[in-house]
Amino acid sequence: MSGVVCTLRVAEVTPETADAVSVSFETEAGIADELRYKPGQFLTLRIPGPDGWVARCYSLSSAPGDPRPTVTVKRVPGGLASNWICDRLRPGDTIEVLPPAGRFTPAPGHRDLLLLAAGSGITPVMSILRSRVREGGSAVLVYANRDERSVIFAAELRRLTEEYPDRVQVVHWLETLHGLPDLGRLTALVRPWAGADAALLCGPKRFMHTAAEALEAAGMDRSRVLSEEYQSLTSNPFAELSAAPAPPPADEACTGTLTVELDGERRTFPWPARTTLLDLLLAQDLDAPFSCREGSCSACTCRVVGGEVKLLRNSVLMEEDLAEGYVLACQAVPLTDQVEVVYD
Ligand SMILES: Cc1cc2nc3c(=O)[nH]c(=O)nc-3n(C[C@H](O)[C@H](O)[C@H](O)COP(=O)(O)OP(=O)(O)OC[C@H]3O[C@@H](n4cnc5c(N)ncnc54)[C@H](O)[C@@H]3O)c2cc1C
Ligand code: FES
Repeated sequence: MSGVVCTLRVAEVTPETADAVSVSFETEAGIADELRYKPGQFLTLRIPGPDGWVARCYSLSSAPGDPRPTVTVKRVPGGLASNWICDRLRPGDTIEVLPPAGRFTPAPGHRDLLLLAAGSGITPVMSILRSRVREGGSAVLVYANRDERSVIFAAELRRLTEEYPDRVQVVHWLETLHGLPDLGRLTALVRPWAGADAALLCGPKRFMHTAAEALEAAGMDRSRVLSEEYQSLTSNPFAELSAAPAPPPADEACTGTLTVELDGERRTFPWPARTTLLDLLLAQDLDAPFSCREGSCSACTCRVVGGEVKLLRNSVLMEEDLAEGYVLACQAVPLTDQVEVVYD
């Protein structure tokens, strides 16, 4: 993954429910490498708006190895990008995207998964489910929706449970039948699977909060829980990519040195104290990945292997990630004279 913009041609737009569509893209020669992704990762799409362009993240619902990368988008009432995609995007149209990014992906050793999704949160979870089943793993999915008609991927989920009854189990939670998911009932529901290798959850904020509490109450260790929160980007990474990188402020003292390993190359630069790692790398013309630049998407994640940095904001990396040295380049400023960073 990198900060390079790809232009994709829409192959198909498939209605999933009255409020959601899947958009699949042609993979033309020359961009296949840029589009290599892990299950659960997202693309950042450039969408026209009334006052210019906006950028929005959409998770891939397809799994690596599927013929076409596909995103699935659910309308948000009054939402700019989701409604434009559902109403306006057609086969043959082209759209600019940033390559796949994100850390909402199970570790390779995690074969048996507990998945919790609500509404459009099913998108990355579906990618993970498809890929794990293909690799011989197993998954239990707890999937919350308003009613039966709003269940995205209902037919495919039914097919998977019929085809792999020993490895795929889907528990539907319909608000019209069961009310909103609450802590007590959700805890009782997930308890039998609290020994899964990992739990991955994605959905609206309130659902994620209840689901995380239910997993903890059911005895699942927090280090095995991974979550993805949806929100609209307020920055525009496409505009930032085409703009000349801002030079560091003139009064900024240069406190240290950065050594970075990116795309197989090792480079060393002075690192001014108040410049973020991402700004420094882009100013040096390096192809460092990023999307939100707000500390909330994890597209810019890299690993500190020497020295220390401080994160100005972080709403995506967990304590376990930080303990392993993972940091957000868009939010990292140096704390020590020498810092060494690698992009895995
Ligand atoms: C990593 C990541 C992956 C994502 N993957 C998907 C995906 O696979 N499918 C998908 O449909 N969306 C996904 N999203 C959400 C998507 O990026 C947009 O935030 C969403 O489509 C709303 O954008 P919009 O332009 O239509 O609405 P906006 O014009 O940005 O918002 C309109 C109004 O709706 C509110 N709002 C914004 N988002 C939501 C929401 N999700 N639910 C309820 N209200 C909201 C806003 O506060 C605002 O008041 C993802 C977001 C992230 C960060
Ligand atoms: S670019 Fe999204 S967290 Fe850094």
